Amino acid sequence: MALTRRTLASGAVAALAAPVAAARETSLKAAARRSGRLYGCAVEPHRLDEDTGFAALAARECAALIPENAMKWDTVRHAEGRFDFAAADRLLAQADAMGAVVHGHCLLWHEALPAWFPERPDERLLRGHVGAVVGRYAGRVRSWDVVNEAVERNDRRPDGLRRSPWLETLGPAYLRMAFEAAHEADPAARLALADYGLEYDDVVWMTEKRGTMLALLGGLVKAGVPIHALSIQGHLRGEQAPSFGRPLADFLRRVADLGLEIYVTELDVRDDATAGDAARRDRNVADHYRRFLDTALAEPAVRMVCTWGLSDRYSATADFFPRPDGARGRPLPFDADLRPKPAAKAMRQAFGRI
Ligand code: G3I
Repeated sequence: MALTRRTLASGAVAALAAPVAAARETSLKAAARRSGRLYGCAVEPHRLDEDTGFAALAARECAALIPENAMKWDTVRHAEGRFDFAAADRLLAQADAMGAVVHGHCLLWHEALPAWFPERPDERLLRGHVGAVVGRYAGRVRSWDVVNEAVERNDRRPDGLRRSPWLETLGPAYLRMAFEAAHEADPAARLALADYGLEYDDVVWMTEKRGTMLALLGGLVKAGVPIHALSIQGHLRGEQAPSFGRPLADFLRRVADLGLEIYVTELDVRDDATAGDAARRDRNVADHYRRFLDTALAEPAVRMVCTWGLSDRYSATADFFPRPDGARGRPLPFDADLRPKPAAKAMRQAFGRI
């Protein structure tokens, strides 16, 4: 619309500018901040460099960034005998430019290991890796997923621990070693144990895993291991009943009663198995975000919520779980054209209700 002299004189420009200001005020970052939390997302640094529209959206919406892959072994240690911090350094610079904090992910995992990784990794390799990575970013990374996915009840250990290369070589003590090495390298960093499959009240293996996780966390805290948080990944399934009620609330409270913070670090909603057009799927995805966050955010110990991506344009979940009808998955708060979806509104409202 051409701005005529009369329009300019009438002060209508202020009205035109209002939506921009309003967008800033209703950002997920602002909504989360008003509830005393951080909101952020997982990103690949090259996406922020290559896609200015996406970078602007992330800067507007996110107060935290998680390196989706930039700090994993197969990125940082792809070549034996040396470290490659280029991607991780870039993400730290991008976060600094955005005024966002960084949640590091992940120091030890049984996946994303380089081809040279030994069958029996020893304590020297563990402590050397954790110390080098955490030490490089000491004072700049707010928190870390120190160990990712340590629990796997199907491995049939009495303690429910996953039979990872770390476990098989070093025993359960590998957990203490990892947290100690991270704490020594950066005493100010908040150190988390991360896992999936803790979200749904009506999935038996998940409720059983909650019990295993509570016992594990309690043992680590009792042993004086420097652990400060549980990261709940939060990968939700749109075709499942959104059962996020009192049992989830009680689980979160029991984690908090151990003196731990809680981070939701990989929130998204798979919609590859849900029927309907995009509008209907979006409403269902939004309902999952709303119900999960209404329960999670009622727990004061929940201090950060991050989605595993920000826009459906870049979603590993949509990539990994393609829909049979060929339509692209829509698991995130913003669509592939970077427009807010019902899920974004549901998240803003959930932050606002607390
Ligand atoms: O960058 C290389 C590229 O150069 C190469 O051509 C291509 C071909 O294989 O691979 C690219 O790397 C891939 C990387 O994603 C970046 O796209 C890796 O192979 C692939 O394994 C990696 O997948 C990541 C996966 O973790 C394994 O690390 C996903 O992006 C990432 O979203 C996913 O995230 C995990 C969390 O870390 C833990 N919780 C579950 C979550 C989803 O699986």
